Amino acid sequence: MSNKTTAIGHSNIAFIKYWGNRDAKLRIPLNDSISMNLDALTTTTTVAFDDALDQDIVQLDDQPADEKTAARVREHLTRVRALAHIETRARVASRNNFPAAAGLASSASAFAALSVAAARAAGLDLSERELSILARQGSGSAARSIPGGFVEWLAAKDVNYTSEQSYARTLMPPDAWALTDVIALVSPDAKKVGSTEGHAAAPSSPFLAERLARLPMRYHHVRRQTLAKNLTRLGPDLEAEAIELHMLAMTSQPPIFYWAPGTVRVLDAVRAWRAEGLEAYYTLDAGPNVHILVAQQDAAELARRVRALEGVQDVLTSGPGGAARVSEDHLF
Ligand code: PMV
Repeated sequence: MSNKTTAIGHSNIAFIKYWGNRDAKLRIPLNDSISMNLDALTTTTTVAFDDALDQDIVQLDDQPADEKTAARVREHLTRVRALAHIETRARVASRNNFPAAAGLASSASAFAALSVAAARAAGLDLSERELSILARQGSGSAARSIPGGFVEWLAAKDVNYTSEQSYARTLMPPDAWALTDVIALVSPDAKKVGSTEGHAAAPSSPFLAERLARLPMRYHHVRRQTLAKNLTRLGPDLEAEAIELHMLAMTSQPPIFYWAPGTVRVLDAVRAWRAEGLEAYYTLDAGPNVHILVAQQDAAELARRVRALEGVQDVLTSGPGGAARVSEDHLF
């Protein structure tokens, strides 16, 4: 029986950040979050379950995966095996279309693609919501890379929460708003502190409780201005969220500093250009690179200016991306 399946998942950039878990094992977040899938940043993953294998084999960009990554992939395959009531081991190959060394978060696109490919290869027919719940357990933000376009991920609200209560859904399809993300790569290093450790450290910041108390108001504003496609009203909250995420990281015990010198230069430049009339707003992941949201008609000019800044090594540009999906282009 040939069960080989390939899937493509898009990365996403959060407008409202996920930082901190209510349940670390299930990756159930402390708060709802909102993001945009990135059309230009993808992971392609092929999965085949094979009775002849006595262990899972995991390859990334044509190399055997390091032990930490391989273990996380095996855990995810085991979730799929449990759902499908099988024991069979699998061969997995995965490839990012953006440089792995760029320090860009790839876990969202990776676990979205792995979830779609592995579930289908195991003979499961999961709904979008079920796939989002599955992907969430591999990497929280991957829940948001299952549906397409502009997405919200709901935290479980009940006192007696269940895993089924936390999933992502589309707010608006990708073609509804040609918002563009111009990404300034300022450091080629992979993250020094992974987001799993960052989430675990979040409660040690004295500011987490304050953030969570205030967040619902910002959330509703960001949700409304996203649906209204109003960059002018959305932008200031995008920047406030990015600063708050990094403030939480910097005030955790031990403190986590993701910014590089180039990060600060790009933030300064965006503020200066905006004062001169180029309307753009920055946000950041748990890393030094800067995502700058801009109207599509201003993206080329912005990218040109960003490229010329000292410390910027490369610039990627992306519009809104679609849902994670099956593909026929197998990697093996
Ligand atoms: O999915 P994770 O565990 O890599 O967490 C992602 C965390 C941030 O990128 C910093 C914020 C977010 O909501 O994407």
